[in-house]
Amino acid sequence: MKIFITGATGVLGRVVARLLVDGGYQVHALVRSAGNETQLREIGAEPFAANLFDRSSLREALMGRDAVLHLATHIPPAKDATRPGAWRENDRIRREGTRNLVDSAIECGVTTFIYPGIVFVYPDGGANWLDASTPPAPTSILQSSLDAEAEVVRFTGAGHRGIVLRMGGFYGPTASNTIDMLRSARYRIAPIFGRNTAYQPLIWVDDAALAVVDALRKASAGIYDVVDDEPLQKRELASALAHAVVRRRLVRPPRFFLWLFAGKNFMFLARSQRVSNRKFKAETGWNPMVPSAREGFKLLSIPP
Ligand SMILES: NC(=O)c1ccc[n+]([C@@H]2O[C@H](COP(=O)([O-])OP(=O)(O)OC[C@H]3O[C@@H](n4cnc5c(N)ncnc54)[C@H](OP(=O)(O)O)[C@@H]3O)[C@@H](O)[C@H]2O)c1
Repeated sequence: MKIFITGATGVLGRVVARLLVDGGYQVHALVRSAGNETQLREIGAEPFAANLFDRSSLREALMGRDAVLHLATHIPPAKDATRPGAWRENDRIRREGTRNLVDSAIECGVTTFIYPGIVFVYPDGGANWLDASTPPAPTSILQSSLDAEAEVVRFTGAGHRGIVLRMGGFYGPTASNTIDMLRSARYRIAPIFGRNTAYQPLIWVDDAALAVVDALRKASAGIYDVVDDEPLQKRELASALAHAVVRRRLVRPPRFFLWLFAGKNFMFLARSQRVSNRKFKAETGWNPMVPSAREGFKLLSIPP
């Protein structure tokens, strides 16, 4: 099977590309710089220079491919996330980039298109379980992900297999937000917002990558949720983080700090989102290796 990946040099994409190469797939990956060409060749993927905003380059890239995995994103680092225009490139990749890729995929006869969405689009559900049947409640920085999902649904409407995997927040040794969390925790602060009993949806990066590969192999067209088995409440998560940095307890900033320093667009971070992976597990047999952040943060433990 011949695959084309965007975002193959990212946190998720690197693991997905390696798993696919190891699994015998022929992997072509969009590149934007010479440095990344070397990185991709080292894992056995074939770099292909293309531009998400140039359809003719995409048509060339997708000719003869069976599946597209669209994993590119441009989420700004936390320190820049509230600056004006910080999300523009990300929105453009999700809206215009996904539309161009879907059009090119349809023209080139690609049969499968996979896009990783985000579970943060769900409303605050308290203690209730949420899943793809729950109507989303996006803030403006999340809307472009739902727009990208609509393109994938359009791909399915054209008679192909479009798959959206709404994923929890990534965590693991290579995820920048995990590195930031561990750094804050060393200063006794847990950057985890919301009520003690609110749930935070997470997924270990390697498990997210396995989910992409399992979706490619086994899932039918549709929208699925990819989170770990047991979403933790914020207080449990703070306690798991404290253990990882060998502290007894951490201070959690109050919710209004988030409002004050980041603004209403980021208040989704304080929601309670107890998201269920049941549908995706039943469909594909995928089983996360790290069932909850309680186990995950043990793997990230660092000495004081
Ligand atoms: N991070 C999370 O917690 C999270 C949670 C749920 C879902 N997701 C979704 O999972 C996917 C992967 O996220 P990630 O955290 O692995 O991303 P990441 O580490 O930030 O990687 C971004 C990738 O996108 C590429 N890229 C950036 N700008 C591009 C452009 N203009 N054209 C083409 N490629 C471009 C980068 O390539 P270069 O090396 O060339 O810059 C890199 O390969 C995204 O769709 C994201 O929305 C992420």
